[in-house]
Amino acid sequence: MVAKTVPVDPFDLVVFGGTGDLAARKLLPGLFHRFQSGQLPEGAKIIGAARGEMDTKGFQAHTRKAIETFVAKADRPKADVDAFVAIVDYARVDAMSNAGWSDLAKLLKGREDRVRAFYLSVAPRFFGPICDQIGAAGLVTPLTRLVVEKPLGRDLESARALNKQLSDAFDESQLYRIDHYLGKETVQNLMALRFANALFEPLWNSHHIDHVQITAAESVPVGTRGGYYDQNGAMRDMVQNHLMQLLCLTAMEPPAKFDSDAVRDEKLKVLKALTPITGTDVDRDVVRGQYAEGPDGPSYLTEAGDPTSKTECFVAMKIGIDNWRWAGTPFYIRTGKRLRTRVSEIVIRFKDAPHSIFDAQVGGLKGNELVIRLQPDEGIQLRLNIKDPGPGGMRIASAPLDMSFAEDLGRDIRMPDAYERLLMDVVRGDQTLFMRGDEVEAAWAWIDPIMEACDHGAAAPQTYAAGSDGPSDSLMLMHRDGRRWREIGA
Ligand code: BG6
Repeated sequence: MVAKTVPVDPFDLVVFGGTGDLAARKLLPGLFHRFQSGQLPEGAKIIGAARGEMDTKGFQAHTRKAIETFVAKADRPKADVDAFVAIVDYARVDAMSNAGWSDLAKLLKGREDRVRAFYLSVAPRFFGPICDQIGAAGLVTPLTRLVVEKPLGRDLESARALNKQLSDAFDESQLYRIDHYLGKETVQNLMALRFANALFEPLWNSHHIDHVQITAAESVPVGTRGGYYDQNGAMRDMVQNHLMQLLCLTAMEPPAKFDSDAVRDEKLKVLKALTPITGTDVDRDVVRGQYAEGPDGPSYLTEAGDPTSKTECFVAMKIGIDNWRWAGTPFYIRTGKRLRTRVSEIVIRFKDAPHSIFDAQVGGLKGNELVIRLQPDEGIQLRLNIKDPGPGGMRIASAPLDMSFAEDLGRDIRMPDAYERLLMDVVRGDQTLFMRGDEVEAAWAWIDPIMEACDHGAAAPQTYAAGSDGPSDSLMLMHRDGRRWREIGA
């Protein structure tokens, strides 16, 4: 099966920070793939905008290099790369002064009838100045959209200030706050699984689900990003955004329609129903960690450049949701660097069968498990209890019903990167997979007291072995409830 491609409307995309790391790794390669698949309409223009001295030719060479570096050789025939770099342009602008803005205006002149997207791939302190300059240069048209990405604040107060800055310049309907986890194939499949099948929804509640586990494990260390990362930590880098979003999509009520406000309203309700974790509860329900030195590399503290740092690069938490659907069913989440392997998955652990009709020697019947795997090997697996094959009498074994998307939907399907899909959604004007301002604030409102307690010494980071499943207290978080994590990479 080949993915279907529906061309989008004509557009101009201006990437501020166009010579930066995200543009090179994700945005330009993503746009290149969309171009290759015929989704970019004739005349689409991609403009890199940055402070650096460079002209269009220079940016075209930069774009070529990015594609050669980040797209596999077999996927980038020279003719495709040549044709793609021909549609990129460059404007040298300075966010903090008027320099260059009239040049950018010239590139966009006469193209007011098409979608115009500004992607701010820059530090948040430039969001306000760039919005002001875009406005002052008269570049905002009715079809203008603004794309921003985390960090969207570092607490509730700064998130509010940022939202205000954005909404002073743009209407909420023009704002696209990216959380790239929402662009992952399986995340959208979670919604298809829940709301396109009648099978699961009747069981999707605390009567039938014992608990939920959400894991986003990485094997890489913080490495050279250590100094920067240490200002934030896993709670701000991963939990407040990516893990909260996965939790919301897993826990939300069925929206009336698959449209942006209906979906985001439901996610917001989940965020508002999270049981507050405050004061001494933080020590009980939150585990933080830092990896130790291992055979393959230095410790977190060495990479952070601060031997006294209390910033976490691992978090595990037990979270309650105070509503009818989930009362009594905890959500356990965990994320960390330098763990056993890279895997992101959501595990729905159903309750054990209420009564076993089999003899005692058959053993306990383990509750069914639905595993929604985001990466690697995107897919869905349902673990069922079956009869162990053979003539040896009745024995029960656990076996998976496994659907790997790549295998089951055809080998020639290439899973698009999250950014590819999200960029095209911006052009289409579909905000469903983007965070609304109130969602971002609600997530901070819940996280803030936890971070505050941590700043005052709660849940002090524990050291864990590089390449392990995290600190021992993370295992205890579940053991004390008579549960266990699915092994990372199982
Ligand atoms: C980013 C974080 O948002 O997500 C990184 O800032 C993290 O620290 C990355 O490595 C993980 O993304 P993915 O798509 O590789 O799971």
